[in-house]
Amino acid sequence: MIRLEHVSKRFETGKHTVEAVRDVSLHIEKGKIAGIIGFSGAGKSTLARCINLLERPTQGKVIVGGAELTALNEKQLREKRKKIGMIFQHFNLFASRTVYGNVAYPLKGSGRSRGEIDQKVRSLLDLVGLADKADAYPSQLSGGQKQRVAIARALANDPEVLLSDEATSALDPDTTRSILRLLKEVNRTLGITIVIITHEMGVIKEICDQVYVMEGGQVVEQGDVFHVFASPQRAVTRKFVDSTSNLSRIRELLDDPANPIQLLPGDYLLRLNYLERSTSQALISTLSRQFDLDINILLGNIELIDGNPLGGLVVIAGGGHDRVTAAAEYLSERNVLVEVIAHG
Ligand SMILES: Nc1ncnc2c1ncn2[C@@H]1O[C@H](COP(=O)(O)OP(=O)(O)OP(=O)(O)O)[C@@H](O)[C@H]1O
Ligand SMILES: [Mg+2]
Repeated sequence: MIRLEHVSKRFETGKHTVEAVRDVSLHIEKGKIAGIIGFSGAGKSTLARCINLLERPTQGKVIVGGAELTALNEKQLREKRKKIGMIFQHFNLFASRTVYGNVAYPLKGSGRSRGEIDQKVRSLLDLVGLADKADAYPSQLSGGQKQRVAIARALANDPEVLLSDEATSALDPDTTRSILRLLKEVNRTLGITIVIITHEMGVIKEICDQVYVMEGGQVVEQGDVFHVFASPQRAVTRKFVDSTSNLSRIRELLDDPANPIQLLPGDYLLRLNYLERSTSQALISTLSRQFDLDINILLGNIELIDGNPLGGLVVIAGGGHDRVTAAAEYLSERNVLVEVIAHG
C-alpha cells in the first residue's frame, strides 16, 4: 500500500542544512497498522508528510496504492491525496464550522448531491460516535470529541491510507485509548491502512502490527512490534522499551545507600526477560517446585502483545549456585533470557 524507496528530505534554511529524513525505505502492506516512533526531532512528521507529498522529498520515490506520487503533477497529486487522510495532534478543525460542516467540507466539489453528502456525513458521525453533536462547534467539544470529528473528516473521501501524526499526544490516557480503539475499528471495518506517528511506546503496543524506530532522520530498527520490543538492538529502542517498564529501577534500588534489597548467601538477584513468543507457562511455580528454589518477586512488568507475554521480572532466587544454574538453563530453553544482576 505504501512504499518508500530511499526517501530523503533536506531543508535549506539560510546557511543551515537539515537532513530531516535520510534514505528511508519502507513497505507497509494494505490493511496494516504501522507505527513510527522516535524522539522529538527524529524526522517522524517530515517522513509522514513525505507520504502524501505535503513535503516533496529531495530524493527517492513515494508509491501509494501503486501510484508513484513523486512522478505526478500537481493536479494528479491533488486527486491522489484525497485517498490519504491525515489527523494531527491539535485536530486542525475549522472553528467557524459546525461538526457537520467540518466533516462535509472535504466533500465539496466531489460531484455528490446534497442528499448523498448528508448521508455520508451522518454515517461518518455515527461511526465516530458523534451523531448527536452534528450542530455543535469545535469549541464546545472535548479534545477526544474533536479528534473524533477530525477522524470523520479524514475519512470523508474514503481514503485508502490514514496518517496520524501524534493524534493522541494532547489527550489523557483514557481518551487516548478510546481514540486508538476507534482507529483500530476503522482499520478493521474499512480496511484502511494506518500509519501512526508517536513518541509514546504505549500507543505502538496498543494497536500497531509493525513498528519503525526513527533516529536522526533514519529508520534504525523495524519489524513486528513484539520482535522489536522483545529484543531491541539499538539504544534508542531500549529507551522506549524502558519508558514503559519499571524493571530498570532495580539498578537504582541497588545503588540506594539504604539498600532495601538483602541477599543472603546462595541468593541470586535475577532479571528474567521474555525474549521470543512463548506460550504462557507457569514458569515461576515450576522453578520453585522442580528446582526447589525460593522465589521472591521484586519487580514485574509483563504485558500481552498478540497474546504473547512481553516484558519480564526481577526476582530473588534462593537455593544456591547449582540449582539456580539449572533453573536458568530451563528458562533459556523456554525463550526467557536470564541475567544475574547480583548474588549474596
Ligand atoms: N520546514 C522546515 N524547515 C526547516 N527544518 C525543518 C522543517 N521541518 C522540520 N525541520 C527539521 O527537521 C527535523 C525533523 O523534524 P520533524 O518535525 O520531522 O521531527 P519529529 O520527529 O516529528 O519531531 P516531534 O516529535 O517534535 O514532532 C528537525 O530538526 C526540524 O527542525
Ligand atoms: Mg512531529
